[in-house]
Amino acid sequence: MKAIVLAGGSGTRLRPITHTQAKQLVPVANKPVLFYGLEAIAQAGVREVGIIVGDTQAEIEAAVGDGSAFGIDVTYLRQEAPLGLAHAVLIARDFLGDDDFVMYLGDNFIVGGIDDIVATFTAQRPDAQIMLTKVPDPRQFGVAELDTDGRVVRLEEKPKEPKSDLALVGVYLFTKAVHEAVARLEPSWRGELEITEAIQWLLDAGLRVDSTVISGYWKDTGNVSDMLEVNRLVLESIESRGHVDESSEIIGRVVVEDGAMITGSRIVGPAIIGAGSVIRDSYIGPFTSIADDCHVIGSEIEYSIVLREASIVGVGRIEASLIGRGVEVTPAAHAPRAHRLVLGDHSKVQISS
Ligand code: G1P
Repeated sequence: MKAIVLAGGSGTRLRPITHTQAKQLVPVANKPVLFYGLEAIAQAGVREVGIIVGDTQAEIEAAVGDGSAFGIDVTYLRQEAPLGLAHAVLIARDFLGDDDFVMYLGDNFIVGGIDDIVATFTAQRPDAQIMLTKVPDPRQFGVAELDTDGRVVRLEEKPKEPKSDLALVGVYLFTKAVHEAVARLEPSWRGELEITEAIQWLLDAGLRVDSTVISGYWKDTGNVSDMLEVNRLVLESIESRGHVDESSEIIGRVVVEDGAMITGSRIVGPAIIGAGSVIRDSYIGPFTSIADDCHVIGSEIEYSIVLREASIVGVGRIEASLIGRGVEVTPAAHAPRAHRLVLGDHSKVQISS
């Protein structure tokens, strides 16, 4: 069994953060979202992993390296343009050979990993296996129609009138049968080779496509509210570690990385404070991730993600915000009481507080 992980795409829904950073590298609890996927793949016992990369190849390679940190062996496969998930399978043909493989979308977040689905696939060996989950707005997804026995009968990509509320999750398992399907596809209305259509081709050819319905899934952490929710979820399971000085108070589970300096502050977990960050005379509330080398001085923040080297100085209360790298947030006169911010890397903003 091999794996391909898709780490291209432009991340338009997460602009401006993704103007300067690959969406798969945006951190959740101070760790790039892509790393959770790579860990899940390693955990499921898959070693040979092809990462499909586009314009952000250099950044992805710098972060993941040869994969040894994850216990996997990574090969980078360049996709010249974002021509679709099935196109990624097409260009991975030589890497995959005739092996079974898992395809994992690098911006998807799946609670509980993929051990179970990989084990089921290996034991039962259908021609393909998909994961489904109930979603409030299926029109943004590939959607599956099941028969009364729960078998997949039809799939449709981004349907205007969805036949069910079961969306395709971004993890798929295939045998080599998919290569013939992919080779026969024509680009869809959005100019992409759709993996959904390749799976429909397998169904039409009378091949067996199994499905598993899961919960605890986020489609591409491509928007801020999803990012904050996933961050909350991951922080729910952290264990405390690290130290603060005596003038500070810690409540609940808080990770303070080595080299972080926390003085005169109150931190209510779950929260994580990255290495080299300075938290002084501040309140850090639940579900907050502060990355490395940040400054939070005389400020209050909760339910937020702060990327590295940002500084927040003298700001009343920040909530439900994603703050980019190197951003500076400072007070201005005349105060509304709460602020909701989505700031790009290296933005500077003055707010009333
Ligand atoms: C892709 C697939 C879609 C699937 C989704 C899961 O959509 O085409 O079928 O439901 O991933 O993340 P895209 O991210 O290209 O909009």
